[in-house]
Amino acid sequence: PPLDNISNAYDFEHLASKVLTKQAWAYYSSGADDEVSMRENHSAYHRIFFKPRILVNVKDVDTSTKMLGTEVDLPFYVSATALCKLGNPKEGEKDIARGCGSGPKKIPQMISTLASCSLEEILDAAPSKDQIQWFQLYVNSDRKITDDLIRKSEELGLKALFVTVDAPALGNREKDAKVKFSSKKHGPQSMSKMKSDGESNGASRALSSFIDPSLSWDDIIEFKKKTKLPIVIKGVQRVEDVIKAVDIGVAGVVLSNHGGRQLDFSRSPVEVLAEAAPIIKDRKLDQKFELFVDGGVCRGTDILKALCLGASGVGIGRPFLYANSTYGEAGVRKLIEKLNFELEISMRSLGVNSLKDLNPDLLDLTALKNR
Ligand code: FNR
Repeated sequence: PPLDNISNAYDFEHLASKVLTKQAWAYYSSGADDEVSMRENHSAYHRIFFKPRILVNVKDVDTSTKMLGTEVDLPFYVSATALCKLGNPKEGEKDIARGCGSGPKKIPQMISTLASCSLEEILDAAPSKDQIQWFQLYVNSDRKITDDLIRKSEELGLKALFVTVDAPALGNREKDAKVKFSSKKHGPQSMSKMKSDGESNGASRALSSFIDPSLSWDDIIEFKKKTKLPIVIKGVQRVEDVIKAVDIGVAGVVLSNHGGRQLDFSRSPVEVLAEAAPIIKDRKLDQKFELFVDGGVCRGTDILKALCLGASGVGIGRPFLYANSTYGEAGVRKLIEKLNFELEISMRSLGVNSLKDLNPDLLDLTALKNR
């Protein structure tokens, strides 16, 4: 169908469910166990309501903000997802880079350690010089590989390192495990030099065996010494760990349960955000510290809610995978436009013209807290 018929993120998902290969759909859409967290990530947003202000001049609204010290046109980014060529076999992550950087408003792209394309290819595909690309790091049991990746990210000009910490064991994704996967056939690029797993049950299992389950806080402290890039810990799920992250001096955390693909019954990240943000604010830190959040975000209003709660940026995974897998670059650009459109409308209706004016008082959190 023509791209004009797509109204929102759900339309991309619906179409993807029809046209993707069985393998791509199983890998992209699955969550862990009973997929309760996956659904909850999204439903939690439905328990947050707005308390709009009236009679505010909202003729012009400004959606720009800062993430990790850099100006961005919009408060959301494409989160790291492995194997974009499963859904977009020719262009993979390159089309995401193009879509993120070719519209009137650009958004950051977080590139997975397990991207189908090489880092160089994805960076070269980016059409705009001032477009932001970050690297998502899975820490390898062979730390030399990890050190090389950190160095390479810095050399190639990536702007931050997001270290994923929520995958010490692979989530039990049964839909995905039912489909045989060969890393020889499907990539990713970064594994071409590693020992191949041969054929295994599901893409996730084939890819994850190198991830170091012994990763600990001390390692993060070591990484900080090795790079000038800001380090953000991705996959934080409790306030105590947010505080630890503040204490070791990283630039921020992503509150995330990996899109419900890891520990089922982990809480929705937006709920953790509602708990963590006031505590972090009260600590009156000397350093800058940013809270990012991802999981279940499909609408401009979801983004707005997370920002009201204190997020500096909102990550979106599957919706961009589906947009990229159905219409490539144009799909990615379209989803950005749609989310921008929804965000601007809802800012006006909420009575705010700048993201700086957002705060928790604009929300009714009764239903969220009374889960
Ligand atoms: C992911 N995610 C992920 N995270 C990461 O740090 N490294 C990775 O390689 C991947 N790969 C990946 C593949 C697929 C198919 C999905 C759906 C997700 C998690 C991702 O970055 C993000 O945390 C979630 O996708 C956010 O949830 P939504 O937006 O998909 O609901």
